[in-house]
Amino acid sequence: MIRLDELAARIDGREARIGVIGLGYVGLPLALGFAKAGFPVTGFDLDAEKVKAVAEGRSYIEDVPSGEISQEVRTGRLSATTDFDALGTCDVINVCVPTPLTKTKDPDVSFIVRAVEDIRKRLRGGQLLILGSTTYPGTTHELFVPMLQESGLVLGRDFAVAFAPERIDPANQQFALRSVPKVVGGETPLCTTLAAKVYGAIFDEVVEVSSSQSAEMVKLLENTFRAINIGLANEVALMCNRLGLDVWEVIDAAATKPYGFMKFEPGPGLGGHCIPVDPSYLSWKMKSLNFSARFIELATEINGHMPEYVAQMIADLLNEDRLAVNGASVLVLGMAYKANVSDLRESPSLDVIRLLSAKGARVSYHDPHVPEVELPGGTAKSVELTDEALSSCDLVVILTNHAAVDYDRVVALAPRVYDTRNATRNVKDGREKVRKL
Ligand SMILES: NC(=O)c1ccc[n+]([C@@H]2O[C@H](COP(=O)([O-])OP(=O)(O)OC[C@H]3O[C@@H](n4cnc5c(N)ncnc54)[C@H](O)[C@@H]3O)[C@@H](O)[C@H]2O)c1
Repeated sequence: MIRLDELAARIDGREARIGVIGLGYVGLPLALGFAKAGFPVTGFDLDAEKVKAVAEGRSYIEDVPSGEISQEVRTGRLSATTDFDALGTCDVINVCVPTPLTKTKDPDVSFIVRAVEDIRKRLRGGQLLILGSTTYPGTTHELFVPMLQESGLVLGRDFAVAFAPERIDPANQQFALRSVPKVVGGETPLCTTLAAKVYGAIFDEVVEVSSSQSAEMVKLLENTFRAINIGLANEVALMCNRLGLDVWEVIDAAATKPYGFMKFEPGPGLGGHCIPVDPSYLSWKMKSLNFSARFIELATEINGHMPEYVAQMIADLLNEDRLAVNGASVLVLGMAYKANVSDLRESPSLDVIRLLSAKGARVSYHDPHVPEVELPGGTAKSVELTDEALSSCDLVVILTNHAAVDYDRVVALAPRVYDTRNATRNVKDGREKVRKL
């Protein structure tokens, strides 16, 4: 058995084998980062397609270049497998599996449980296990560690455990993986030191906190902060609409204040795997402690209502043109939840389209990143943005502000435009046709 106190030297010498469970938006860049830093890395996923893609040097995540994957696969530093027995060969195991909500909006930690079961069966001592999936404070200490202790091995002596939240922001070109500080909190001081050491190899700065619970809470504070401030921006948009003001002008002008203000933008609703989901992990945990997380509840309500508000505004705009929603032809621009990504998870576009279709609208969509999508009525395909498609519909609705779309052309050709993202901010001609959120 490799002793835990030998692990630091193995990390320093780049001999420690790094395992990454879950090769998604978070896990794949992390695995690549460790391989590029000279560690032997094994990625694990239940999805054989992803494992095959890695083995073939093909990236399936927009920010991760295929060339970098194939380079590390060629050197032999990076490999991927669906065979979890290989976990026994790993000295450090990062868990990057999904943490969604159940239908009743409670945390679904079943992916974590399954990953820990897979680790426990192969726990051999001398290993550092790091949970990176966003989750409620206490998951590492109350769920992750007790499951591993069932192996009979001793925490802090035979194996180490830490929580290290992930901060990756897909499609954000401004920050490279290593330039965003990594927060780590271990179960014991040695656990924190080992986790800080391994992440110190691929991050410029590592921030140590005193416990895994504290590290879990850091992540939830960050994402709750965003959800609440987006909720405020959305409510300000509703206020500005009532006041006859342009919310974008108001927010942009407020953002010129060099201190004490941080810019958040309104939109058709929250999307992605994090912001709509993570605050509910915190409020769920707090409920179990008889504490009501009121800011979270309010922001969830405001943000959750935005797709309905947008659908109502679309109905009002059509009404101004003496058109009913029933039978109207609506062209939606943007299916992904945010600009320049293909990620559909929790996308508000899906909600807006569902609401419009339920009222009888004929909805088509264009998204350069999403060639097709499953909708309640079946599979829909992205239409080409031809002159005919733009000019023959009754209304164009911009739900995602992808950079690849020519908004001057959209406004020039469309009979009417409803812009929920201020994508048309620089359009000069035809502004009278545009209504903004
Ligand atoms: N996407 C982001 O921008 C982001 C940012 C910060 C934090 N996070 C958090 O990171 C975690 C992962 O998110 P993601 O976006 O990478 O998810 P993802 O869905 O892109 O990837 C998760 C991967 O894990 C695999 N998987 C699921 N269960 C598994 C198991 N038991 N064993 C092996 N593989 C398994 C899935 O097949 C999938 O490939 C979540 O907790 C999320 O909240 C995500």
